[in-house]
Amino acid sequence: MSRFFITIIWIYSLWYAIIKDMRMRVIVKGIGGFHLACDAEGIYEMISNIISNAIRYTPPGGTIYTEVLQKDKEVEITVKDTGIGIPLGDYGKIFKEFHRSQNARNFVKAGTGLGLTIVNRIVERYNGKIEFESQEGKGTTFRILLPCVTSSFRQD
Ligand SMILES: Nc1ncnc2c1ncn2[C@@H]1O[C@H](COP(=O)(O)OP(=O)(O)O)[C@@H](O)[C@H]1O
Ligand SMILES: [Mg+2]
Repeated sequence: MSRFFITIIWIYSLWYAIIKDMRMRVIVKGIGGFHLACDAEGIYEMISNIISNAIRYTPPGGTIYTEVLQKDKEVEITVKDTGIGIPLGDYGKIFKEFHRSQNARNFVKAGTGLGLTIVNRIVERYNGKIEFESQEGKGTTFRILLPCVTSSFRQD
């Protein structure tokens, strides 16, 4: 597996490519960059899916907050929105293929319900973790934790 150097600048450019002229506030925090044991395509797929969900399920005027932090040997990528939230009863379903919660269907008609399934598979492939917390009507926070490449387990 190749290594990918994720930088805050890169996250910024991803945001600007996606958000264009949407009326939303985007905050990106973090310093520098981190070496991850991922390929660029995988990390792009993960982050762009989580970001596009935050955009899709947040009404205009909302805020989306992104942060990349290094915590010991892990990199933590957080995407927090002030959107519609995930109903409590659906917490166990959102990573299942084709699942779309009723509030999400009401808010945005179209959708495949496959984004998070794909994200989850990629996270597993990279030995990472994905977690979320949410409150219906208030917002959602997704957190992806990925192992960081350090000299102790570098393969080259
Ligand atoms: N940021 C979010 N806010 C509210 N609900 C979300 C968010 N992200 C995911 N969900 C819920 O998880 C479901 C599955 O997400 P996903 O697999 O990306 O499918 P899709 O975006 O096509 O609906 C969504 O339909 C929605 O119910
Ligand atoms: Mg999606």
